[in-house]
Amino acid sequence: MINKSILLNIVSENGTPLIIIDHSLIKANYYKFRKYLPIVAPFYAIKANPESRIVKTLYDEGSGFDVASWEEFMIVYDMLEGQHEEKKVFINDKVIYANPVKRIDSLKKLNEYSIRMTFDNYIEVDKIAKYCKNSRLVLRVDVPNTGSVVELSTKFGANPNICLDLIKYAKKAGFDVEGLSFHVGSQCSNFDNYVKAFQIAHNIFKQAKSIGQELTFLDIGGGFPVPYDENVPSFENLADVINNNISQYFDNPDIKIIAEPGRFFVATTAIAIVEINGKAIRNDKVYYYVNDGIYNTFSGVLFDHIQYHFKAFKEGLLKESAVVGPTCDALDKISLNEQLPDLNIEDLLYSENVGAYTNASATNFNGFPPAKVIHINT
Ligand SMILES: Cc1ncc(COP(=O)(O)O)c(C=O)c1O
Repeated sequence: MINKSILLNIVSENGTPLIIIDHSLIKANYYKFRKYLPIVAPFYAIKANPESRIVKTLYDEGSGFDVASWEEFMIVYDMLEGQHEEKKVFINDKVIYANPVKRIDSLKKLNEYSIRMTFDNYIEVDKIAKYCKNSRLVLRVDVPNTGSVVELSTKFGANPNICLDLIKYAKKAGFDVEGLSFHVGSQCSNFDNYVKAFQIAHNIFKQAKSIGQELTFLDIGGGFPVPYDENVPSFENLADVINNNISQYFDNPDIKIIAEPGRFFVATTAIAIVEINGKAIRNDKVYYYVNDGIYNTFSGVLFDHIQYHFKAFKEGLLKESAVVGPTCDALDKISLNEQLPDLNIEDLLYSENVGAYTNASATNFNGFPPAKVIHINT
């Protein structure tokens, strides 16, 4: 965690609410990923935090990118160095449009880029053939998401039983499917999901080969869990599982293996600082009303199913307290179970591990603008 006096200096210059993102930690997470999964090329899923300075830091480190909309694509495009044709070379190799069902306006605009994109159904093949025929296709297969905090398999992924048929269908439409992608669900601490996903992918690679179509690309998605609490299993153990499965099923230098880590690169790199603007006792509990809430930085309470915790800069006897947001909506409660000392209005609280799926989904509801984002150690 960043030194408290540095945090207080940043607050005195910028006010609150704030999100402070430490780029030295982004780089450390990136190195960790590369160290433990050396065969897997990371494509940062920029939906986790689309701040262009984060994209730039990861680009400088050598990352590729997973985008899910034309707008996210343009965040990457605008950051790239060089002329249009040079940028296209990077995009061709190191950007994947990993949204299996795409908006038509995005497809029309992407046609000139010959980008890799995922799909998971027949109608999408027809759509891509009509609006974005220069694309290169990657089939997203449904894999178990059991126990993951955010399940994605309820909305995306082709049933493994129809994958071969989809590959044939795409062929008739003029596309040689390059490979497969899967996602085990976000914040996945059940590593068996990865094991099953590798087995499913291996079977489909074999089926494709049997009809003469060699797949050469495997995208193992995101899901890499972040240590929000001490019960989360370690990334090092997961890396062992992944490396063993790659050796068992995909030990072939002609197969390019990528991943789409979002949360893993950014969640632990940011800290939020909020100010207490109100205090009330309800049902014998102290409620602190702070100047940021679930419509802003703490949107992850709703969208990301994450429980955030708070600490005070002041010390004192701890008692159970609630921390709630500034809007008029009763839903806007960040946490009802915090251990905090007795605090007053204008005191500050901080919350760690707020780098992923926080400011990314902040709104202006009730007129309260999102927290200011500060980048340090860039
Ligand atoms: C297609 C896709 N790739 C990657 C990610 C990033 O996942 P995570 O943040 O768990 O790494 C997501 C998250 O929703 C996703 O939908």
